[in-house]
Amino acid sequence: MNLNIALLPGDGIGPEVLAQAVKCLQAVEETFNHQFVYKEAPVGAIAIKKKGAPLPDNTLKLCKEADAVLFGAIGDPKFDNDPNAKVRPEQGLLKLRKELGLFANIRPVQAYPSLLDKSPLKKDIISGTDFVIYRELTGGIYFGEKKLNEEGTIASDLCEYSEGEISRITHLAFKAAKTRKKKLTLVDKANVLESSRLWRKVVTKIGESYPEVALDFLFVDNAAMQIILNPSQFDVILTENMFGDIISDEGSVIGGSIGLLASASVGEENALFEPIHGSYPQAAGKDIANPIASILSAAMLLEHFDLGEEALAIKKAVDKALKKGIVTPDLKPKSQYGTNQVGDFIAHNIVDIEDDFNMNDENIDLGKSTII
Ligand code: IPM
Ligand code: MN
Repeated sequence: MNLNIALLPGDGIGPEVLAQAVKCLQAVEETFNHQFVYKEAPVGAIAIKKKGAPLPDNTLKLCKEADAVLFGAIGDPKFDNDPNAKVRPEQGLLKLRKELGLFANIRPVQAYPSLLDKSPLKKDIISGTDFVIYRELTGGIYFGEKKLNEEGTIASDLCEYSEGEISRITHLAFKAAKTRKKKLTLVDKANVLESSRLWRKVVTKIGESYPEVALDFLFVDNAAMQIILNPSQFDVILTENMFGDIISDEGSVIGGSIGLLASASVGEENALFEPIHGSYPQAAGKDIANPIASILSAAMLLEHFDLGEEALAIKKAVDKALKKGIVTPDLKPKSQYGTNQVGDFIAHNIVDIEDDFNMNDENIDLGKSTII
């Protein structure tokens, strides 16, 4: 298959984790005989610095022309700590999502058997967890009208949803549930919010055409608790933009590190793949950031183009790295493996999945393996 992939490394650790995902895609090209063309463009704080805008026109154009976008990370503390900043890196990502019509953000959450003791949650609570969050991505409070009075003392953000916006992602979520454990949970705040009541109405109606899927509802406060108390009860969670943002970070605790969570953002015509984590500026350039979320985002890209076997090759190689403890310090505090080495190991194992490198496990534990 030929694919044109736009690479948007962004800020902080974005470039270094994205580079590992590209290594893995190149390993897939080599192994499965595909041809991917990569074109890179700036976004976020780096784009503000270089081009004066968080999403320069040329970057948007490149993304629109590409078959898919692979995104690194966005954000810079310089802007976070300045409430008066006129322009912010995050606006680049939000504009990109809107312009590309990426209304559904898909975030799988699972407890990897080899990492059960890495989570601060008890093993027997998280064991068997495997759910996916369908987060609405181009509506709600993120995109509603924003107001600030002249004195700068009163502010508001409008949370608005239309039936059409709710229904298009709801269909995707039900279709996903059909292929999984056949359960869909709508997370909302329908006891308080009018927009949530509309979500319930629309989702209930659509649910009638998916009789094989059990539909239930949870208020977001209760959902936040249930995700920690009993995460294996979930299959597909459907929710609006901001609730999805919050509970997906919460969900990452189950896996043991936010550095493991990948996502796909899809629309009618475009698709973008990115880790759910931020730019982690404290780690930038230190070769310690976990590249797995970015690598698994590349696997989601392949799945999007029906390259299931290829995606599986990446996931198996990731599993192997996790099992062998070839991981960054977020998962093993004393680990001597850096971002690059973990990327190399995973890429190598895609090319030759059976090759065990004749690795000496003891050396791996000591971080002394010379093979990676
Ligand atoms: C995410 C991020 C973004 C969001 C930020 C960077 C705008 O937190 O993708 O979850 O809030 O959607
Ligand atoms: Mn977030």
